[in-house]
Amino acid sequence: MSVRPPPSDREFRAYSNARENRDILRFITCGSVDDGKSTLIGRLLYESRLVFQDQLARVEADSRRYGTQGENLDLALLVDGLRAEREQGITIDVAYRTFSTARRSFIVADTPGHEQYTRNMATGASTADLAVVLIDARKGVLPQTRRHTTILSLLGVRHVIVAVNKMDLVDWSGDIYQGIVEAYRDFAGRLDVTGVICIPVSALNGDNVTGPSTAMDWYEGPTLLQALETADVAPDRECPPFRMCVQWVNRPDAEFRGFAGTVASGLVCPGDPVLVCPSNRASVVKRIVGPDGDLDRAGAGQAVTLTLADEIDVSRGDIIAAAADPPSLSDQFACHIVWMHETPLLPERPYLLKIGTRLAGAQVTAVKHKLNVDNLEHTAAKTLGLNDIAYCNIGLDRQIAFDPYRELRETGGFILIDRYTHDTVGAGMIDFGLWRGSNLTRHPLAIGKPARSAQKNQKACVVWLTGLSGAGKSATANAVEMRLHAMGRHSYTLDGDNLRHGLTRDLGFTAADRVENVRRTAEVAKLFVDAGLIVLVSLISPFRDERRMAREMMEEGEFIEVFVDCPIAVCEQRDPKGLYRKARAGEIGNFTGVDSPYEPPENPELVLKTAERNVDEIAGQVIDYLRSRVDVA
Ligand code: ADX
Repeated sequence: MSVRPPPSDREFRAYSNARENRDILRFITCGSVDDGKSTLIGRLLYESRLVFQDQLARVEADSRRYGTQGENLDLALLVDGLRAEREQGITIDVAYRTFSTARRSFIVADTPGHEQYTRNMATGASTADLAVVLIDARKGVLPQTRRHTTILSLLGVRHVIVAVNKMDLVDWSGDIYQGIVEAYRDFAGRLDVTGVICIPVSALNGDNVTGPSTAMDWYEGPTLLQALETADVAPDRECPPFRMCVQWVNRPDAEFRGFAGTVASGLVCPGDPVLVCPSNRASVVKRIVGPDGDLDRAGAGQAVTLTLADEIDVSRGDIIAAAADPPSLSDQFACHIVWMHETPLLPERPYLLKIGTRLAGAQVTAVKHKLNVDNLEHTAAKTLGLNDIAYCNIGLDRQIAFDPYRELRETGGFILIDRYTHDTVGAGMIDFGLWRGSNLTRHPLAIGKPARSAQKNQKACVVWLTGLSGAGKSATANAVEMRLHAMGRHSYTLDGDNLRHGLTRDLGFTAADRVENVRRTAEVAKLFVDAGLIVLVSLISPFRDERRMAREMMEEGEFIEVFVDCPIAVCEQRDPKGLYRKARAGEIGNFTGVDSPYEPPENPELVLKTAERNVDEIAGQVIDYLRSRVDVA
């Protein structure tokens, strides 16, 4: 293969002109491992003549070292940017490349084919206008093809070019090609993918990539490059409404107060009426300040600082929006979630949600159904595992401004973040706001918590006893209550075993059920505290996250976490209900400490060593704490 000359001035000019005219097509490539994605993009880059001599020299050297094409150049090496991935022979992250022709500039995201990398594919697709889905002609439509197409549809990529690759390996068979096209169209037709163009190609030989194929004269459609150059991906809405997510408030001096961010959609000019959301305060844009001074307009993708005509409260996370077409407000949504982490999603577990520049506390309140990506059937689910896609309800701890994802991706897409590790664990697309939240108001009670506590001559609180089964939580609760009762205090015990006969009768011992068990119990504890009672909770409550959630539901100082700390060997020896024996015999599953985890508290207010002291001493420890810290007596 000969080395091409570097691009001419004319070619460079075409590239810059196309860029200036903003005719840029962002596309993503997806397919299964070994479909030839990188080779295909490599060929596009190579044949559109934007490969430089030095890059080619490197590819030549690399081809000898890592290549899969013998003496020939391995074009995939132009694209597979990461050394680790070269050495493993797979693509493991999203690689962005730009190239251009006289008609258009392109930004291409090459995404990995391995199933566990669905996350990267979702990342690449969230900004793409079009997707090139590769199908290996020998293998046809695979589960991975369906999964990717489903994600593309959910992420709002409506235009797909199906490149049926490796046609040389199926003797350029038109019948095989037609069979694949029909199978793909049948699947895509059930999704929100409107424009599908199919092309038979050989990325390795170059057939139908930039030039037509002589081997497949039965095919009369465009080459891949022609299809990319002419794809009409104009947005459904001619001019989407103006939105800017405020990144930070710039106040260098008393004179200037600007709101910096990137325009997420639409256009803004000085004089435009705007609303600051979610507070819905109205104002007018005074100035638009760019890196080189004032601008008379700014559009999507531009980073600017806006000043407003009025002194209104604006902070990071707010959306400044066109007053005539503002976003919606809600604190609960129906949405699609793509789960991206090995640790499963647990409904009711508190996560952080990031939408635009806004961060909020979030809980998935219901998993409505999981989507089977093979046949698009809905299946019931309680949790979500890695790569699962589901339709869910989500509740936030505050009202936010948003647009449905299908109308505006920038203000309708979000990510979910683990509160402890700060890992991104999921991505979501808002379908619509649930209005339940905003139709409910709180009825103020005439008698408040202080009055109720004062009448009982005590300070209400929650003593949250956590520990293994058989550690002595219930015995401790009984002993403490007897002491409190004798002292004339008013208390009540919420005991896990008792609640499971009524309030939590429908729950079992899966992680998801335990999360819900703790949530319900914490809600009741909160009500009892409001009633002025000293509440003892006796619950294994094995997860730190949910104990923290319970703590955050109470007021400062009201939540006393007590670790009932007893070695599992001792609990097992006691085995008051014979459950450890059954668990070891495999008769009951998910037993805490045996085949279900227990996360000990990190900073409990009190640790009770029940294996080392008798129950009276233990109760005395709790009473002493309550006397000293909570002023109960
Ligand atoms: S929690 O984990 O959801 O907080 P909870 O305290 O309500 O548990 O219930 C624990 C009680 O249920 C135990 O004391 C035990 O008697 C009983 N139990 C039955 N099956 C299990 C199990 N698989 N794991 C733990 N406890 C179980």
